[in-house]
Amino acid sequence: MISDIKKTIAEALCDIITVLTTEEIAGMIEYPPDISMGDLSFPCFRLAKAFKKSPNAIAEEIAAKFTKTPAAAAGGYINFTLEDKFYAENILSDIFARKDKYGASDIGEGKTAVIDYSSPNMSKPLSVGHLRTTNIGNAIKKIHQFCGYKTVAINYIGDWGTPQGKILAAYKLWCDDIKEVEEKGVYKLLELYVNFGAEAETDESLNELGREWFVKLERGDGEAVGLWKKFMEISVIEIKRIYDILGIEFDSYEGESFFEDKMGAVVEELKEKNLLKLDQGAQIVDLNEYNMPPCLILKSDGATLYPTRDIAAAIYRYKTYNFDKNIYVTDMRQTLHFAQWIKVTELMGYEWANNCIFVPYGIMNVDGKVMATRKGNTQLLDDLLKLAVEKVAQIMEEKNPDLSGEEKKDVAKKVGIGAVLFSELANSRVKDINFTWEEALNFQGNSGPYVQYTYARACSVLEKAGGYTKNISITNNLEREIIKLLSQFPEKVLVAEREYEPSVICRYLLDICAAFNRFYHDCPILKAESETIKNSRLALCEAVKYTVGNGLWLIGLEKTSKV
Ligand code: ARG
Repeated sequence: MISDIKKTIAEALCDIITVLTTEEIAGMIEYPPDISMGDLSFPCFRLAKAFKKSPNAIAEEIAAKFTKTPAAAAGGYINFTLEDKFYAENILSDIFARKDKYGASDIGEGKTAVIDYSSPNMSKPLSVGHLRTTNIGNAIKKIHQFCGYKTVAINYIGDWGTPQGKILAAYKLWCDDIKEVEEKGVYKLLELYVNFGAEAETDESLNELGREWFVKLERGDGEAVGLWKKFMEISVIEIKRIYDILGIEFDSYEGESFFEDKMGAVVEELKEKNLLKLDQGAQIVDLNEYNMPPCLILKSDGATLYPTRDIAAAIYRYKTYNFDKNIYVTDMRQTLHFAQWIKVTELMGYEWANNCIFVPYGIMNVDGKVMATRKGNTQLLDDLLKLAVEKVAQIMEEKNPDLSGEEKKDVAKKVGIGAVLFSELANSRVKDINFTWEEALNFQGNSGPYVQYTYARACSVLEKAGGYTKNISITNNLEREIIKLLSQFPEKVLVAEREYEPSVICRYLLDICAAFNRFYHDCPILKAESETIKNSRLALCEAVKYTVGNGLWLIGLEKTSKV
C-alpha cells in the first residue's frame, strides 16, 4: 500500500511523465534523507533512456512543469516540498480515523500465513536460546495479522526421538517418583537430563539404555507412553507460563510426534515418484544437482528423521490450513536442513513448496555472568526475564518513587520484559547479537524502555491537557519531521512483512521517538505561544501516541501510560 500523499504526487507527475504509470511512479517516490531536501523525491535516472537526456536535465524539465507543489531539481532527483497544512492534515486525519489500525493494510486479506516458531524440545525449560525464535516469530505473526492475513501460530514441539528415551531412562534410574517430578516440574526433568549427559560420557551403556527406552516408546509400551505423556504435560505447563509472561499464544501444539503415523505415506509417495535412492543402507533423496548433500529420509534401521517429519508436517499443514505462506522461524544453523526438505517437496511436485519460507536468525549471546543459572550450563529464559523485571523495579524506585506499589510492579514487568524483547528484536535478524544490560536498559535511547517511556510521555501530556480541539498549524522543522515520520509508518509495516524483519519496526520506533523527544524538549506544548499552536501540538502528541502504540503492539511490547 502506497501512502495517499505519494499517490497524489504520482498522479500529478503522471501527466508529465507519460512513459510510466501512476503506480510505477508512486512506487519510485522516496523520502529524502534530510528534510531540507523536501518531503518527497522522485529519482529520474530510469528516465534517461526514454528522454535521451541526463537525469538532472530531466529533473529540471519536470520540476519546471510541476505545479501541484513546489518542486526543485537536484542531483537527478526532483524534490517536492509539500505545503505544511496539506501534508499534515492529510496524514493526521488518516491517523485519527484509523487509530489502533493506523498502518494496517489488507494485502493479506483472504490469505493464510502459518508460522512455526519457538518450537522447543520437550522435558526442558525454555532457555535464553529460545528467545529469538519465540519473539521474532510472534512479531512476524502480528505483522501479518496487521496486514490482513489470517495467521496460524504453530509450536512444533520436539517431542520425539532418542532424547525422549534418555529422559525416560534417567527418570527410571535416578528418580522413579512421579510425585517429585510433578512438584518440581520441568526443572527436575532438566536435572535428570543434564545428569544423564554427564554420566553417559564415561558410561556408554547409558546411551544404549536410552535407545532401548525410545524403542519402547515407539512400540507403544504402556509405562513408556504413560511417562512420556506426563513429561509432555509438565513441559507444556512451564513453557506456557513463560509464554504468558511474554504475551504469546499459539493456535497449535502439534509437535513432532504428531507426525509419526503420517510419515509412512510420505515414504511411499517418494518411492512412487522415484525420488528415493538407497545409499549405504539408508534411503535418501539425491540433491547433487542442486548443490546440496542428500536429504536423509530413512536410516538404515528404518527409523525416520527430522527432514522426513518436516515434509510430513508441511503436507499436513497445506491440507489443513491451505496456507499462502508457510513460515519457519529457526536458528540459522538449520539453513541446510530447510533448503533440503523444501527442495524435496518441490521435487514431489508440490507447488506450495515455493511458499515455504525459512526465516533464519543469528545467535544471541548473553554476556558473562549476568544471570544466575539453576542447572548445568543452561541459561534459563525465566531467570533472564526475572532479572530484567527486578532491575527495572530498582530503576523505578529511583526514577519515580511516587508510583504506588501496584503501579510500580506493573510498570516494572512491562518495561523489564519489553527491554529484553526490544534489544533482541532491534538488530537485523540474521546478525549475531550480544545482549547487554547497559543497552537493554538504557532509558535515554535505542531501547524498549526508551520507546515505552516516549509513549507514556505522549499519554501524560494529553492527560494533563484534558480535552482539546484538533487543528493543525505547523510552525517549525521539528514538527515537520514528526509528520514526515508518521506518514512513513504504513510503508514500514509492509517492508517488515515482506522481509520478515521486525527490526524495521524497531528502528522506525527509535526514529520517531527521537524526533518526538526533540520536539517535546524544544517546543512548549501546554504553554505554547497560542491556543492554535497548543492544539496543533497536542494533535501531534496524539498521532504519535497511536503510531508508537501500534508499533509497540507489532513487536509484542506492552504499552504503559506511566513510567
Ligand atoms: N525443535 C527444533 C529445535 O529446537 C526446532 C524446530 C523448528 N521447526 C521445524 N519445523 N523444524 O532446534
